[in-house]
Amino acid sequence: MLICTTKKELREALASQRTGGKSVGFVPTMGALHQGHASLLERARKENDLLVASVFVNPIQFNNPEDLANYPRDFEADCRLLEAEGCDIVFHPEVDEMYPEGQEIEKFSFGKLETVMEGAQRPGHFAGVGVVVGMLFRLVEPTRAYFGEKDFQQVAVIKDLVRQMGIPVQIVPCPIKRGEDGLALSSRNALLSPEARAKAPFIYATLKASLELASRPCREVKAFVEDRIGSCPEMKLEYFEIADPDSLQSVPDEQAAHGNQGFIVVWMGKVRLIDNIRY
Ligand code: PAJ
Repeated sequence: MLICTTKKELREALASQRTGGKSVGFVPTMGALHQGHASLLERARKENDLLVASVFVNPIQFNNPEDLANYPRDFEADCRLLEAEGCDIVFHPEVDEMYPEGQEIEKFSFGKLETVMEGAQRPGHFAGVGVVVGMLFRLVEPTRAYFGEKDFQQVAVIKDLVRQMGIPVQIVPCPIKRGEDGLALSSRNALLSPEARAKAPFIYATLKASLELASRPCREVKAFVEDRIGSCPEMKLEYFEIADPDSLQSVPDEQAAHGNQGFIVVWMGKVRLIDNIRY
């Protein structure tokens, strides 16, 4: 596995390895890799001739400086996982390499996708994701790029990004990988106290239980989820919304949840956990 830390190295590595029209699968990450990332890598490995990953904690998508400072980093462990998944090239730049002073940045706006849920709660987050993924797509020019439905709203934003850029990359959404207890795997889970970690599966258990109400009006589903999470003293609900899976716009309260996506954000101490489910 080749490790590239500069854009120049990456361009050269791709130019020499991408011979004879080889397809390139690309998995962008922020490192602290776990089995969720591994599931994307595994799929990309199977579907492409070359497998490229990036490990870059993108400062401009963090709207909270504390979250950026605390973000777990372990590039050596990441390399072991990438190697085991058969990665050919990993791009691991420093911040200055991605954002040199004075260099113009290609920016995107995502309209209504940015004004609801994550977009509304984390101002600038999706703009920052758009900048870095746009740059990475220009560099790697992947045939296919793999994104987890753990960040369901991010997938919608990336699809819109590709449409705006007019590039031929195929976006492949991948299902959420969970622990045996149901908790969606996340790099941030490592920051939970042992007590919080033990309670955290209650989030998905609640979403799953709410599936029973899929044919009921959203108002009832929301009340159910809000009550259950509210009854857990270790948890603070930031939002629970039922929205259209493509436009991310919320479904009217009197309409049935069926066919839409439920999105939840829960705080446990200083850790922000996200999950979602299809009704
Ligand atoms: P990161 O949080 O490292 O996630 C990288 C990719 O792994 C994302 O597509 C994410 O949805 C996916 N992923 C994380 N946990 C998962 C799980 N439990 N099951 C399935 N997929 C999972 O998302 C980012 O990084 C960044 O925003 C990035 C796209 C790299 C831009 O900086």
